[in-house]
Amino acid sequence: MEIRILQKSTAANLAWILDDASKLSLVTGLSETELKYASDVLAADQTFVTINRYNGFSFVILVKNKKTANQTAEAYRKAGAELQTVCNKYKLAEIVLCNTTSLPGAAILTGEGAALANYQFLKYRTEAKKLTNSLQRILFTKNSATVKEVAQLQTTIDAIYKARTLVNEPLSYLSAEQLAAEISLMGKEAGFKVTVLNKARIVKEKMGGLLAVNRGSIQPPTFTIMEHIPKKALNKKPIVLIGKGIVYDTGGLSLKPTANSMDRMKSDMSGAAVVAATMYAISKMQLPLHVIALVPATDNRPGEEAYVPGDVIAMYSGATVEVLNTDAEGRMVLADALHWAKRYKPELVVDFATLTGAAAAAVGEHGIVCMGTADDAIRQAFHESGNRQYERLVEYPLWDEYGDQIKSDVADIKNIGGATGGAMTAGKFLEHFTDYPWMHFDIAGVSFQTARKGYQTTGGTGYGIRMVLDFLAHYGKA
Ligand code: BES
Ligand code: MN
Ligand code: ZN
Repeated sequence: MEIRILQKSTAANLAWILDDASKLSLVTGLSETELKYASDVLAADQTFVTINRYNGFSFVILVKNKKTANQTAEAYRKAGAELQTVCNKYKLAEIVLCNTTSLPGAAILTGEGAALANYQFLKYRTEAKKLTNSLQRILFTKNSATVKEVAQLQTTIDAIYKARTLVNEPLSYLSAEQLAAEISLMGKEAGFKVTVLNKARIVKEKMGGLLAVNRGSIQPPTFTIMEHIPKKALNKKPIVLIGKGIVYDTGGLSLKPTANSMDRMKSDMSGAAVVAATMYAISKMQLPLHVIALVPATDNRPGEEAYVPGDVIAMYSGATVEVLNTDAEGRMVLADALHWAKRYKPELVVDFATLTGAAAAAVGEHGIVCMGTADDAIRQAFHESGNRQYERLVEYPLWDEYGDQIKSDVADIKNIGGATGGAMTAGKFLEHFTDYPWMHFDIAGVSFQTARKGYQTTGGTGYGIRMVLDFLAHYGKA
């Protein structure tokens, strides 16, 4: 998707964005009958007007203000998704957005919704050409967006497309090694440094958690390290992002029930996709922050050598873990990455993981479950970013009692905490491997959609990327 400012003075297909029907008076280039028609449609409580003119289409989109500014922003994104559908229906290659509202960002928000909605994953379709959306370009009139906003939107959209594609790629293509290779390519393109630790190096480091999960696999694990170092950073010590990179989760020997529960498990590396895309974007945008990202990756399978319930695993940190369910594998690989992060003496560590069905059950597909030990200002900033981007957060507690639930009789801790409080007992497990300010984002409910929903396309969503990018863009600026 190409996103830019319109340079010519004329446009074939124009979408006028209104926050009130009275703004029709600002619409230019329509005949009196066309304006009358648009006004009648809006008066009949419709919000989308299509005018088919001899030299192109004109659309009038009315988005009324909602209760809060953030809800209004989301309404513009959703209107953009609707516009995208219509553009493709009429086989348009290009649409120009023109803002007449009192909100300066209205066109950008609409464009963001349209661009996100236009994503497709056609790699494995033999009729890919025929199925490709006609819409190729989203343009803004000079008064509707700034050059900087447009460049940022382009980068954000590119990053989210890449993340969605990584999630959509099946295990048959995206092994742990391939994931590392894809991240290396993203590093080359955007300019951040990528180092991939192979199995021999992971063994040498004694990353017991990652190796335990990998034991049932026929393919080696990887541990990928990304680094963005700006010339002048606002942060003294690095921010570390960690993404769960389980390229497929069968549950291992604690096999998931076959009926449906594995269907979306190629998406169990969504956390890795979020952090890789975030590195891509901050590096392209040249954000003045020192940021490192870590992705421990493997599939989780019940092969001959697989780790078994009852095993005691010596983790990278030296702590011992009694494995009582091999399906609680995400925390095993994340623990080693969380321990690795200590070497940087980080200012903040943030992890993204499709960690628990419990988090998905609790808030559904409408938000992220988060928890952590970072201070109030950081948590507040995350919540604000989540609300602004409509990738909202629900914070859960890390009470000591959840920690009691993962006490083991034979090891330091066990990898499951019983029938209740699953999102928090998983959080407590992770906390065990931290000694720095930390936030955990459980994206199990939001990372994958089985059908299109507004600007979220079927499959990987990239949910969380806009939230964390917004957070980083505001970081250190008080
Ligand atoms: N990858 C799953 C969590 C998940 C479930 C993500 C559904 C997306 C949709 C994770 O590895 C897992 O299996 N978690 C278990 C933990 C349990 C065994 C303690 C779960 O939530 O059931
Ligand atoms: Mn699992
Ligand atoms: Zn998993």
